[in-house]
Amino acid sequence: MLPSKFLRDRSSILKKELQHVESTVDEEEYFLKRSAQTIQKRTQQLRETKNQAFDTVSLWGLYGQEDMKAFKSMTLPLFMSTTGGPFDCLVDGSLLLSYKTIDDPNKIYTRIDNQNPDHLAMKIAALEGLGVPQLTQGVCTSSGMSAILMATMPFLEANDNFVSSNRVYGGTQQLFEITYPKSGWRVRWVDKPWEIKEWEKRIDKKTKFLYIESPSNPTLYIADIQALSTLAHEHSIPLIIDSTLASPALTRPFEHGADIVVHSTSKIANGSCRAIGGVVISLDTITTNIESIKDNFAYMLKGGHFRNMGPCLSPFNAQIIWDELITLRLRVKQVSENALIIAKYLEKHPKIEKVNYPGLASHPQHRIAKQLMKLPDGQNAYGHLMSFNIKGGLRKAKKFAENFEFGVQVTHLGGSYTVWVHNATTTHGQMTNEERRAAGISDNLIRYSVGLEGVQDALSALDKTLRKI
Ligand SMILES: Cc1ncc(COP(=O)(O)O)c(C=O)c1O
Repeated sequence: MLPSKFLRDRSSILKKELQHVESTVDEEEYFLKRSAQTIQKRTQQLRETKNQAFDTVSLWGLYGQEDMKAFKSMTLPLFMSTTGGPFDCLVDGSLLLSYKTIDDPNKIYTRIDNQNPDHLAMKIAALEGLGVPQLTQGVCTSSGMSAILMATMPFLEANDNFVSSNRVYGGTQQLFEITYPKSGWRVRWVDKPWEIKEWEKRIDKKTKFLYIESPSNPTLYIADIQALSTLAHEHSIPLIIDSTLASPALTRPFEHGADIVVHSTSKIANGSCRAIGGVVISLDTITTNIESIKDNFAYMLKGGHFRNMGPCLSPFNAQIIWDELITLRLRVKQVSENALIIAKYLEKHPKIEKVNYPGLASHPQHRIAKQLMKLPDGQNAYGHLMSFNIKGGLRKAKKFAENFEFGVQVTHLGGSYTVWVHNATTTHGQMTNEERRAAGISDNLIRYSVGLEGVQDALSALDKTLRKI
């Protein structure tokens, strides 16, 4: 996955670094060459995916005939091991453990890489990269939160800042607001993220990136990725986007100028709700004024922050998510169709004050959603998530939560099951009233993640409950 320039730079440094290992230059050269071949093969495979359909990539990823023959398995096997290996010889081990040839996940320690997370990262990176000529690369993480951590912290030093939409998941809000300031990293929230000048006002010389979540959980703000990436690039900084809710089946942010994409793969990427996971995907070269992380950002994490902090994904979870991606587009299409029917029904209901769903013409960023949210065949679809306000404030919202029996009342979203939650008392309960108000989380808001159940069943259940309250 690494370009040859990177390899050349590395190999000249290596000769010096490996002086303490008893080896001949021939041995080093052999392993470096082998590493280069692995990279070239990967690069070639990734390039080939660019001519393939979304469904072909989501089915096979980069698991091809050669792997099948090598592993004697039609499907990607589970590599449930703490360690790959064995090393071919001391030099091989030395090169691997100095992270110079970690492109071979067969050999390395699972905290750094393993076949399953590696294949998952390549599959998602390939899906995200379908619309752009550049190559993409990824690293899988233990959760969506650790993906956000990995995607952002390499940019930050004490007294640096970054500018973020305040329409972000509650966990992200807490990470940026509570945890990051302890290291001197300051978030500058944008309360009206749809106004580009609000972003511009907050950028200065110490600003290291812009951050958005789009669509946002749970208020469904849709960011103008193009405008924000243009603004970021004018300041030589990257645009980082949490694209969990869209998934690559609906929006491929690199097409619109984003530099780094993160996902919680615990959500729609993994419809069966069986595995927590995350992924960071970057373009081969990103816009940043920090030279050391400009190239191969996601890959470099493996030998840096990711290795040092340890948020690796279990091979077992990676395998589940890899399999789930096979049906991603089909699931996204179906839940989007169901969601639009439900959103239209709720919008007309006399007991509903407001529905937030990007597919509705009443949504404030519907025009942008129409440009950005498209299935791979170009057809518009707007995803599984909506939220709605119940007339009558907190009391009526609680009554809804006490009476609604369809699906499950839990803090989850994006699975194949309908799930819903009252945000002010649960997912966003740790925020202050003021923070909640600023982020658009009213006391009467219900988040509703549409599942694959028959849509008529959902409508009947909603009807029955709304009659009662
Ligand atoms: C948009 C979004 N990003 C990130 C996360 C965090 O993901 P995880 O729970 O996998 O850490 C969530 C969790 O709900 C989310 O909704």
